[in-house]
Amino acid sequence: MQASQCFYLCSQSHAWNPRAQSPTLHRVRPPTTTTTSVRFTPPISAVATPLRHQKTHSMPPEKAEVFKSLEGWASQCVLPLLRPVEQCWQPQSLLPDPSLPSQDFFDQVRALRDRTADLPDEYFVVLVGDMITEEALPTYQTMINTLDGVRDETGASTSPWAVWTRAWTAEENRHGDLLKTFLYLSGRVDMLMIEKTVQYLIGAGMDPGTENNPYLGYVYTSFQERATFVSHGNTARLAKEGGDPVLARICGTIASDEKRHENAYSKIVEKLLEVDSTGAMLSIEDMMRKKITMPAHLMFDGQDPRLFEHFSAVAQRLGVYTAHDYADILEFLVGRWGLEKLEGLSGDGKRAQDYVCGLAPRIRRLQERADELARKMEPCGVKFSWIFNKEVKL
Ligand SMILES: [Fe+2]
Ligand SMILES: [Fe+2]
Repeated sequence: MQASQCFYLCSQSHAWNPRAQSPTLHRVRPPTTTTTSVRFTPPISAVATPLRHQKTHSMPPEKAEVFKSLEGWASQCVLPLLRPVEQCWQPQSLLPDPSLPSQDFFDQVRALRDRTADLPDEYFVVLVGDMITEEALPTYQTMINTLDGVRDETGASTSPWAVWTRAWTAEENRHGDLLKTFLYLSGRVDMLMIEKTVQYLIGAGMDPGTENNPYLGYVYTSFQERATFVSHGNTARLAKEGGDPVLARICGTIASDEKRHENAYSKIVEKLLEVDSTGAMLSIEDMMRKKITMPAHLMFDGQDPRLFEHFSAVAQRLGVYTAHDYADILEFLVGRWGLEKLEGLSGDGKRAQDYVCGLAPRIRRLQERADELARKMEPCGVKFSWIFNKEVKL
């Protein structure tokens, strides 16, 4: 691949692509000389250098009281947005049934494989990337438990914030399980490379810039849950158009969980805007200035140091998740939180309000210019280990 011929790589300096933020990856290699030392040698892995955000504990300690005082409200208004386990779907109800006699089970697997036959490889690149993002769930539970005032202090805390986080994690856990089993049965993807990518990604963590600050954390999760709702909704649409209604139902079912989670996290931010309008407004501004980093931005498969950029470029081209979606999500949240009409803000708060409310149109204008430039450039192809090193156009 000639980088100079590649639209995506060449247009990065112009494109306002929120997903193209992958830092340069630096491989930590074992020493090349033999040594008798028993010192621990790190395995070959992707380590992002430098990470963008390493600021910690930015919420003034007294603000932790805000979350303490909202515990009753959270129990009444947030916890009901969880589904009781007995009413939840489970991956098994959307997959071939292994309890059937062998032949019937094999028939169901064959039907699954037949249904995916017309879906292109590039679709699988995006579905795998979405699945890997879901599979890094330990990182997200860890991230939420970095947040001061809402973390699960014991592992089984009865605080409604901790109860929410554990049950949210348990709901999310079904997403990766379902997609991974589906992909395994489909035979269309290289499970070994996918499993490696998941191991690298969980080892690498994430760098969302939330600073142990639950104001920032809940702005981030509100945005992210909507982004995953959009992304899974689009893979559902493409599966349906590609002739696989069962996969469409799988992605659609996951998308509807994401929507419910988005609703919960945006409700929390809405409440923060009510009790501390300036503090919450400044936090929204802070996260939007940093740009929302996608949770799997440190992904690596042991081969492609620009894997996340490449995956994002395919997702953008297929219309599964684009820079326009990023602007749409921002615009949606501005409306959902009534930010344009928010009153009682300090001077800083008003400046933050102006910035956030004017941001989506600016992103759109920049992206339209980038799209225009991109149309004039030659597309290029990249090989993905996840699909047995077949090449996909970016
Ligand atoms: Fe999910
Ligand atoms: Fe989610």
